[in-house]
Amino acid sequence: MKVIVAKDYEELSERAFEIMKAVVQNNPQAVLGLATGSTPLGLYQKMVKDHEREGTSYQKIRTVNLDEYAGLGPENDQSYAYFMKKNLFDGIGIPPENTHIENGLAGDTEAECARYNALLSDLRQDIQLLGIGSNGHIAFNEPGTPFSSETHVVELAESTIRDNSRLFEREEDVPRRAFTMGLKNIMNAEKILVLANGANKAKAVRGLVEGEITERLPASVLRMHPDCTLIVDEDAASLLS
Ligand code: PGA
Repeated sequence: MKVIVAKDYEELSERAFEIMKAVVQNNPQAVLGLATGSTPLGLYQKMVKDHEREGTSYQKIRTVNLDEYAGLGPENDQSYAYFMKKNLFDGIGIPPENTHIENGLAGDTEAECARYNALLSDLRQDIQLLGIGSNGHIAFNEPGTPFSSETHVVELAESTIRDNSRLFEREEDVPRRAFTMGLKNIMNAEKILVLANGANKAKAVRGLVEGEITERLPASVLRMHPDCTLIVDEDAASLLS
C-alpha cells in the first residue's frame, strides 16, 4: 500500500483529484467506484470545478456507489443517491443512467443484492474510492465482516450510527440497516484510493497501515490489494510510527 501524507484536507483533496482525473483521462469510459460521507467532498468539488473549467467529459463514464441506507429512496435528502446527485453528478454532467447505487427501497433485499453483484461483475471498477470509519469499516462493512463478502444488507454498528447522526436531526432518524458492497466487491477494483482526514480517524489509519490484517478491522484487507493508495492528512497520520 502506498501512503501519502498531505499537510491538510485541501492538499489531500488535490492529490486525490489528480489520481481520479488521470483515470478519467486515460479511459473516457472508465468505471468509477464512488463513496459518500464528508471525506470525498473536497475531491468532488474539484471534479465539478474541473468539468466546468476544463470541460472534462463524463458522458461515457459509469459509476457504481458503495452503499445506500435501507428504506431511503433517491428523493429522500438523507439518501446516498441524493447525496451523489447533489454533490457530484449534477455538477459533472454525467447521464443519470450511467450512475448506479443499490435501491434502498427494494422490497426483496436478497434479489437487490444479487442484482447489484451481477452489475458489479459487468462494471468492474477501474478505481474504487473509499473513506474509512472510525471503527475501521469501509463502505458499511463493519468489524467482523468476512473478507469474502459480496453485496449484502447490514445492521449498522452503534459507533457508525453515532458518527452519522451528525447529518440527521435526531440520532433515532439514522436508518439502522443499509445495503453495502462487500469486501470482495471492493477488492475486485483495478485500483483503490482511500482517503482519511481528522484526528478521529488516526486509530483506524494506524490499524490499516501497521496493524494485523484481520476481519476485526475491515479496512486492513486493503493491504492485500496490489494497487492501493492511502492519502491522509497530518491529523489522521498522527499515530503512524
Ligand atoms: P466520513 O465517513 O467520510 O463521513 O468520515 C467515512 C466512512 O464512514 O466510511
